[in-house]
Amino acid sequence: MVTQIWHVDSASPDPTAVNAAAAILRAGGLVAFPTETVYGLGANALDAAAVARIFMAKERPASDPVIVHVHEMAQLALVAVEIPPLAYILAERFWPGPLTLVLRRAAVVPASVSAGRDTVAVRMPGHPVALALLKAAQVPVAAPSANRFARPSATTADHVREDLDGRIEGILDAGSAWIGVESTILDLTKTVPMVLRPGGVPVERLREMLPDLEVVSRHLHITDTQIEAPGMLLKHYAPHAELRLYAGTAESVQAAMQSHAAVVRRDGRSFGLLLPDREAGAFRPQPDVQFSLGDTAEEISHRLFDGMRFLDQNGVQVILAHLFNSEGLGLTLNDRLFRAAEGRVIAADDDRM
Ligand code: TXA
Ligand code: MG
Repeated sequence: MVTQIWHVDSASPDPTAVNAAAAILRAGGLVAFPTETVYGLGANALDAAAVARIFMAKERPASDPVIVHVHEMAQLALVAVEIPPLAYILAERFWPGPLTLVLRRAAVVPASVSAGRDTVAVRMPGHPVALALLKAAQVPVAAPSANRFARPSATTADHVREDLDGRIEGILDAGSAWIGVESTILDLTKTVPMVLRPGGVPVERLREMLPDLEVVSRHLHITDTQIEAPGMLLKHYAPHAELRLYAGTAESVQAAMQSHAAVVRRDGRSFGLLLPDREAGAFRPQPDVQFSLGDTAEEISHRLFDGMRFLDQNGVQVILAHLFNSEGLGLTLNDRLFRAAEGRVIAADDDRM
C-alpha cells in the first residue's frame, strides 16, 4: 500500500485534503492526523473491521483499548451512556483539549475499541486539523498514538512514516504536535474519579475541581527510593538504546550520570543525553550525539519523544536521563520516562549502586 501524505496548514487545513482523508476513514481506511498532544492513527470507531486494522498496523495487542475522538457533544452522547453531569462540567472546562474521559460504553461502539471492557475513553482534541477531519468524517474516530506498539509516540508526520509507512492509507501532515505528550486519562466510572495516565492537563488543574481525585499509584510512587520495579509495566515508549533513568538530589544524579558516562566512553560505547539544556551544556564527558531538549517543562514535553527517536536514529547505545520534580507536567514527563526505562530507576544517592 502506498501511504499518501497531505501537507496542510495547521491553522486552516485545505478542505480538499481533509475531505479526501475523511472519505478514507468513512470507507474503513486508516489515516494518521495531528492532534495537540501527539499524532493519532484514526479509523471509524463504529466499524469493527476498521478498528481491527489499527491493531494490525501498530502491532498492538488487542488487550490495549483505544481512545475515541469526537468533535461535538452530540457525538459524546452517541458513544457513551449513563454520562454523569461531572463529565459535562469537565468537558465544558477542558474540551477541546488534552483530557480523555473514561465513561460507560454505548452498544454502538464495538467492544474491540475498548478491548472488551464496558467502558469507553473519549476526548475532543483541540487541534484544528483533527477537528476538521472529525467534522468531515461525520463519525467518531478511534485513534491511538500513531506509532508502532512500544515505540515512542509520534509527534511529527516523519515519526508516523518511520513506523507506519506502507501500512496505512494516509497521513495529514501539519508539522509537529504542540504538546508532545498524550492526553490525561480520567476514569469517571469509579466511585472516585481516578487519573489512569497523567498527560497534557496537569493533575493539579483537575484537583481544583475534584478535590478527592485519585491518581493511579505507580505515578505517585516514583521516588528516589524506588530502585527497580521490573516487569510491573508494559514496555512502552521505549527507544532502542538503553535508557538509564536516575533519581536523587541534583548533585548526586549529576555525579552518577557523569561517572557512568565515563565508563560507557571507556568501553567504546556511545551515549546521548535527555537532559535540560542547562545541564547538558555542562555535562562531561560530552555526549556522542547532541539533542536539545529545551529547559522548561513545556519545551521538554514537546521534544521528549522526538529526542528518544533522534538519539536512536543516530545510533547511541546508552541514553542518560533523570526524573523531574513531579509538579505539573513533571508528573507526565516522569511517567513517560519511567515507562521508557521499563520501570527501572537508578537511585543516585544509594551507595549500593
Ligand atoms: O493524546 C492522546 O490521548 C493520544 C491522541 C492521539 O489523542 N492518544 C493516545 O492513545 O495516547 P493511546 O492508544 O496511545 O493510549 C490510549 C490509552 C490506552 O493505552 C489505555 O491505557 C487507555 O488509553 N484507555 C483507552 N480506553 C480505555 C478504557 N476504556 N478504560 C481505561 N483506559 C483506556
Ligand atoms: Mg500510545
